[in-house]
Amino acid sequence: MTNPLRIALVGAGVMGRQHAARITQNSETELVAIADPFSSALADELHLPSFTDHQQMLKQISPDAVIIANPNDLHVATALDCIEAGIPSLLEKPVGCSVEEVRGLVQAEAESGVPILVGHHRRHNPIIQAARRIIQSGALGRITTFTALWQLQKADSYYDMAWRTRKGAGVLLINLVHDLDLMRHLCGEVDTVQAITSNAARGFEVEDSAALLLQFKNGALGTLTGSDACATPWGWDQNSGENPAFAQQPEQPCYLIGGTLGSLSVPQLKHWHYGESKGWHSPLIETADSHASGSALDNQLRHFVQVVRRETQPLISAADALQTLMLVEGARTAAALRQTVTLNNPA
Ligand SMILES: NC(=O)c1ccc[n+]([C@@H]2O[C@H](COP(=O)([O-])OP(=O)(O)OC[C@H]3O[C@@H](n4cnc5c(N)ncnc54)[C@H](O)[C@@H]3O)[C@@H](O)[C@H]2O)c1
Repeated sequence: MTNPLRIALVGAGVMGRQHAARITQNSETELVAIADPFSSALADELHLPSFTDHQQMLKQISPDAVIIANPNDLHVATALDCIEAGIPSLLEKPVGCSVEEVRGLVQAEAESGVPILVGHHRRHNPIIQAARRIIQSGALGRITTFTALWQLQKADSYYDMAWRTRKGAGVLLINLVHDLDLMRHLCGEVDTVQAITSNAARGFEVEDSAALLLQFKNGALGTLTGSDACATPWGWDQNSGENPAFAQQPEQPCYLIGGTLGSLSVPQLKHWHYGESKGWHSPLIETADSHASGSALDNQLRHFVQVVRRETQPLISAADALQTLMLVEGARTAAALRQTVTLNNPA
């Protein structure tokens, strides 16, 4: 039997605690140390070595792998330190705060051969795996429209952490980056983006709301309307059941994907089509597709173990996550200039 993978954690906040819980529950992984300059609470609870400096932790502990869950603006520098030490990392989303800094990370990853898995964990959710299979099977025909919603009222106390109110955060980078990543994953690369953003509800330096118009390279059109200051039942976190900490609204969809032969609601996986006949006067037939059970974060950790053991390539590499970040940055530019932005990415 292979020894458990010795994993160290950088950043012991909300997400760090989620990762710690998963690592300790998985028989293939062992949490060996935690670095966080501002709190040793989690390390103390788990009776683990605690460090204020992750570099020191890497040197002293020599973990097999690292999970990075510190604030967004530290992601690239921390991941580069892991590459320098030759240690694979699972890097929380967003991969970084600017396209420019992430290009450097992509190059370092390629030159070193030390893999990075970016934490767009929803791609590991069995619902998304099933939705992607349905779309790729051709059951919806050619995708015409992709309507996405992520609208949630975050508690004001969430913003007590100052980094969440400043440049490097905002609903686009903290939340909508997940939806944009899934829109790419399910529908392909985006050609152009238009956007309007607003900070009117919270008044922070960064936006709390955004409305995006996307044109995919395959010709499909998409919209994403998102806000962290909005009391609605529509959003992956309320609808998917992925995180029980959110009040659940499982009957509501957050993605509506329309194609020439049929349509799909996510996360319900309700599939509508006309059957043998085709056209607006025929009754639409509704079927519900099934999906496997399982937690996205547990699946992500299992996949990370395989990546560290070089048994597979990362499902979301830094280069892949860069494309999602380019979309976020494109949306920001489009909103600031009130212009359509064309993304420079592969087909
Ligand atoms: N995948 C997801 O769904 C998801 C959900 C929430 C957050 N996140 C991401 O996880 C990351 C952390 O978010 P959070 O909500 O847990 O934030 P948080 O503020 O709760 O936690 C961040 C932690 O990092 C620590 N920290 C600050 N500087 C550090 C440093 N130099 N080295 C190590 N630790 C340092 C802080 O003390 C804090 O404990 C962010 O990048 C966020 O975007 C991902």
